[in-house]
Amino acid sequence: MPTVYARSVQETRAGAQTKFLLGESQLPRRWYNIRSDMPTAPQPVLHPGTGEPVGPDDLAPLFPMALIGQEVSEDPEIDIPEEVLDLYSLWRPTPLYRARRLEAAIGTRSHIYYKYEGVSPPGSHKPNTAVAQAFYNKQEGRTRLSTETGAGQWGSALAFACKLIGLECKVYMVKISYEQKPNRRSLIQAWGAEIVPSPSTETQSGRAILEAHPDSPGSLGIAISEAVEDAAGRGDTAYSLGSVLNHVLLHQTVIGQEALQQMELAGEFPDVVIGCVGGGSNFAGLAFPFLREKIAGREIDVLACEPAACPTLTRGLFAYDFGDTSKLTPLVPMHTLGHDFVPAPIHAGGLRYHGVAPLISQLVRDGLIRADAYLQSEVFASAVLFAGSEGILPAPEAAHAIHGTIETARAADEAGEERTILFNLSGHGHFDMAAYDSYFADKLEDVALDETEIDRALQAIEGLPAPA
Ligand SMILES: Cc1ncc(COP(=O)(O)O)c(C=O)c1O
Repeated sequence: MPTVYARSVQETRAGAQTKFLLGESQLPRRWYNIRSDMPTAPQPVLHPGTGEPVGPDDLAPLFPMALIGQEVSEDPEIDIPEEVLDLYSLWRPTPLYRARRLEAAIGTRSHIYYKYEGVSPPGSHKPNTAVAQAFYNKQEGRTRLSTETGAGQWGSALAFACKLIGLECKVYMVKISYEQKPNRRSLIQAWGAEIVPSPSTETQSGRAILEAHPDSPGSLGIAISEAVEDAAGRGDTAYSLGSVLNHVLLHQTVIGQEALQQMELAGEFPDVVIGCVGGGSNFAGLAFPFLREKIAGREIDVLACEPAACPTLTRGLFAYDFGDTSKLTPLVPMHTLGHDFVPAPIHAGGLRYHGVAPLISQLVRDGLIRADAYLQSEVFASAVLFAGSEGILPAPEAAHAIHGTIETARAADEAGEERTILFNLSGHGHFDMAAYDSYFADKLEDVALDETEIDRALQAIEGLPAPA
């Protein structure tokens, strides 16, 4: 009898399954490199002095050779080292959920799924690349990494990876987030990293900004300048970036590869794939393995969601620009708002970046990805709706993808259509309670950027080489 009982329980649950889980043996063993499938090859990154494409020697002071190789690789897949897989197994594979309760709450006929990256120890997708970067740096003899962080998710992910792998770590945290998120700061310290608010007095870049703007809230562009300057000035230190670069997006593709297997378990395939975009890494991580299918002929709508206060893809220019404010990085072909653009201090700190990954920019240009921008009050309303139906309190960044999903489902209902939507819930919001406090106290300001500020900021790229 007990067996019959167990079977009938299973049968009852099968039709209403919530989580689609993979075993550790199903962890992807290779990263997927979309460069090998892109219809238009991405344009080269240029040396600002010579205007020529940068070579490995230009990048060697900042990055280990293995990552420089991945940055320019055209191999379709790259093996994930055993040591990295071993660390991934602490939290991967991550769950895929069918958001039945959200579907009911908004009354949609569409099916909504989400991949939840908030189960990692730091609480987001960021350690997927942090452990890989720390591993290669350690392998090539570096003992210390420097980096920037916006919301603190990336800084805590790199601190976590460095601690487990055995490297020192220095984090320049955007000042507004440093003040808004004291607990992220403590988490970074708990994993043994040193952390300072940026702009800081510790670098030339930081001091120059403070002289011109003593009250600067900081930005990712400024914090990147400080971290790059730190690494360039010390032989023991490499620079580590949490987004934008090809190798970072590559490492994140474990997300989408797992999701492909999990959608198969669910017996569905997404019509729409959605993610939020700061520098673009979580979006790419989920979307690139699905774009592989799209490029091969499958019909998928791929939507990138960004804040209206920092509308890089929807209102920026595709141009060569610096990745940082102090012009220390090479010139990157990407959608940009200009390297000295300082976005309003919205709570999705991880989305306050003037540029975006070149791979994503090129795919937007080629019409394979579309983008939309949202105001933070509507984003927080969707976050609270999600928390009240699915239970998970999302990071403000991830809430942009939730909002895009809800809008997509509503539009489908209005059109009398039923769609299967998959989005990336890139992190939880447990360290973002001050942002939720502001929302509940009705203190969130909506910043719709005016055109004159965009025009002003874009003057910074006048005279730089133009992409083809
Ligand atoms: C939870 C979360 N989602 C998304 C982002 C945006 O970064 P990216 O576009 O590289 O995924 C961040 C950045 O800090 C983040 O913390």
